[in-house]
Amino acid sequence: MLLEKILQSQGFGSRKYCQQLIKNGAVTIEDQVIDDLKFKISEQQLNFKVDGKAYLYREHVYLALNKPKNYECSHQATHHFSVFDLVDDLLLNRGVQCIGRLDQDTTGLLLLTDDGKFLQALTHPKKHVPKVYIVKTADEISVEQIEKLTSGVELRNEKGIFAATDVQKISENKLSLTIHQGVYHQVKRMLAAVGNKVITLHRQQVGLLDLGQLAQGEFIFLDEQQIRAAKNLDELIVTL
Ligand code: URA
Repeated sequence: MLLEKILQSQGFGSRKYCQQLIKNGAVTIEDQVIDDLKFKISEQQLNFKVDGKAYLYREHVYLALNKPKNYECSHQATHHFSVFDLVDDLLLNRGVQCIGRLDQDTTGLLLLTDDGKFLQALTHPKKHVPKVYIVKTADEISVEQIEKLTSGVELRNEKGIFAATDVQKISENKLSLTIHQGVYHQVKRMLAAVGNKVITLHRQQVGLLDLGQLAQGEFIFLDEQQIRAAKNLDELIVTL
């Protein structure tokens, strides 16, 4: 592929801008300055530097972010920060999108990608990718509430029954649960439907991908195994 095309595909900017980077001698491959606009190279596994900073060619990017509180999953955040403030401009230029949404006050695992097929695979209602949440509640969690969450509740303006699996009481006011759909404010509405109230909400897992120790506000690029885990394709949990 032409080097200028490679740079463009990685989010460095317009064709003209990428040509300028090359002409200015800003791009190196294996410490050789490449300032020939006709230069072609295989993009697979390509390591290159722009202005001395190292990059690896990626056809698509798959990111896991530990979303902090007070961040919105939208580009035009109105009252809070935007999660897109937490990722590099190059990734934004590539059109990275959130895979599903977390509320501004929800923390935890948020996936982002520029791969439309991957986004679809994780968000399509028929795929039922499980998501594990840890919930702090206003009132003590009762056995009846756990039973109702497990057998399923109705949510206003939504069709069907919304049931959680693996509902586990961690302490008086804390539980973990797994949901298999992703309707608006689902966990908060499910807890309200059983007569409790969510005080804090944290997403720990998407598919079989667990947030692990990733620091708040930080993101990492997912590797093949982590991508498979997010799609819920294997049996074992993969921890970041
Ligand atoms: N359910 C909610 O209520 N909020 C979220 O952010 C995610 C799931």
